[in-house]
Amino acid sequence: MAEAFDAVEIIEAKRDGRLLTDAQIDWVIDAYTRGVVADEQMSALAMAVFWRGLERPELARWTAAMIASGERMDFSGLSRPAVDKHSSGGVGDKITLPLAPLVAACGVIVPQLSGRGLGHTGGTLDKLEAIPGWRAAIGKAEMAAQLEEVGAVICQAGSGLAPADRKLYALRDTTGTVASIPLIASSIMSKKIAEGAGALILDVKCGSGAFMADLAQARLLAQTMVDLGTDAGVHTVALVTDMDTPLGLTAGNALEVREAVEVLAGGGPPDVTGLTLILARAMLDAAAAVVEKAGHRGLGFAAGSAEAARWADSIRCLDPADRLRDGRAMDSWRRLIAAQGGDPDADLPWAQATETLTAEADGVLARLDAKQVGVAAWRLGAGRARQGDPVQAGAGVVCHAKPGDVIRRGQPLLTLHTDTPDRFGRAKAALAGAWTIAATAPPPRPVVLEQIGGHA
Ligand code: URA
Repeated sequence: MAEAFDAVEIIEAKRDGRLLTDAQIDWVIDAYTRGVVADEQMSALAMAVFWRGLERPELARWTAAMIASGERMDFSGLSRPAVDKHSSGGVGDKITLPLAPLVAACGVIVPQLSGRGLGHTGGTLDKLEAIPGWRAAIGKAEMAAQLEEVGAVICQAGSGLAPADRKLYALRDTTGTVASIPLIASSIMSKKIAEGAGALILDVKCGSGAFMADLAQARLLAQTMVDLGTDAGVHTVALVTDMDTPLGLTAGNALEVREAVEVLAGGGPPDVTGLTLILARAMLDAAAAVVEKAGHRGLGFAAGSAEAARWADSIRCLDPADRLRDGRAMDSWRRLIAAQGGDPDADLPWAQATETLTAEADGVLARLDAKQVGVAAWRLGAGRARQGDPVQAGAGVVCHAKPGDVIRRGQPLLTLHTDTPDRFGRAKAALAGAWTIAATAPPPRPVVLEQIGGHA
């Protein structure tokens, strides 16, 4: 069968700054998924989009074409509303681990399809696989049953969900075309819209350890994704959050699981606990807004009904911190881990070797660079250089201080963990100049920098 277009004419159109038509976009995404458009042609088009961008109608069509490349999931038949959360990726970002069971413990379902780490940013699935026996791959029927029984699932997306993105993301990763707002927004939102949750909270990271280093870019990415979600009928809210310094005190798989369990036990570093509670609040509010407006089949509430409004009010009145204090979030975590084959009581692996870096002066820690800590953790074996490489469960970095802490000369600042000590050299090279010790404390930087969407 003759093809409707020629890839070269589409590449040239975008290269020269012309708008792509709906038909061109539909064809190029479909033809790439079928293998008719070659990787080198799609790389050239991705680079043209990187430089020229996509106008709003082009981006909406590009995202729709990526969704149409695969199947769509539907959670509307569940007995309670479902809310999804997505982070654009950062260093030490273990928030999904305590957040999903916490929100489930509040009565809202969390179908969390997560990814693996690539480069210096960690991946939720790699972290959870540090738990002996835990499985990332579960079937659709098992997923539906677990969502009803436990209230949350954290698993890998099946190969049928937005396959065009699966191919394109891997290609972008090796062609310098990741950090493009339309390409990131369509990649994330095609998967999230195809996943079919009625509401979505986006955690858009901003700072040295994120894809978007400055606030204006992060804001634009957040707004672009909120627009795509809203246009697709998904209640979408984005929080732009700080990623200049690692989140919490750990970066690395088992190290981060331990920290997540501390949060669920009612402790944990204040920034991790704080952001977990803020995102939980946002997810509960989103569920309330959706049920209030559209009702809910599983709950038996009609759109705009008094029952729907009462349910929404009861969810708005919940304080997620109570569920950390009363142990219900921890119970949910244990059930979630066990349901996916993991042993919540098993000892988590430790790396075989450690090396500690100490402070060179007295003062205040003024800066600890997220990207450099992330690269060090990656080089120690916590991340992978290529898709499919194994990761070390115990590898990573433990931070002994956060920006603003008073420091004494010689005190431990960072401990590096790895099973392969010959990695210490490259990890330490990544950390050259990663921190500053100053005479005075830096102004405190809030964890949440901005909210886009979801305002009353
Ligand atoms: N996460 C994604 O899923 N896609 C991107 O392009 C970037 C982060």
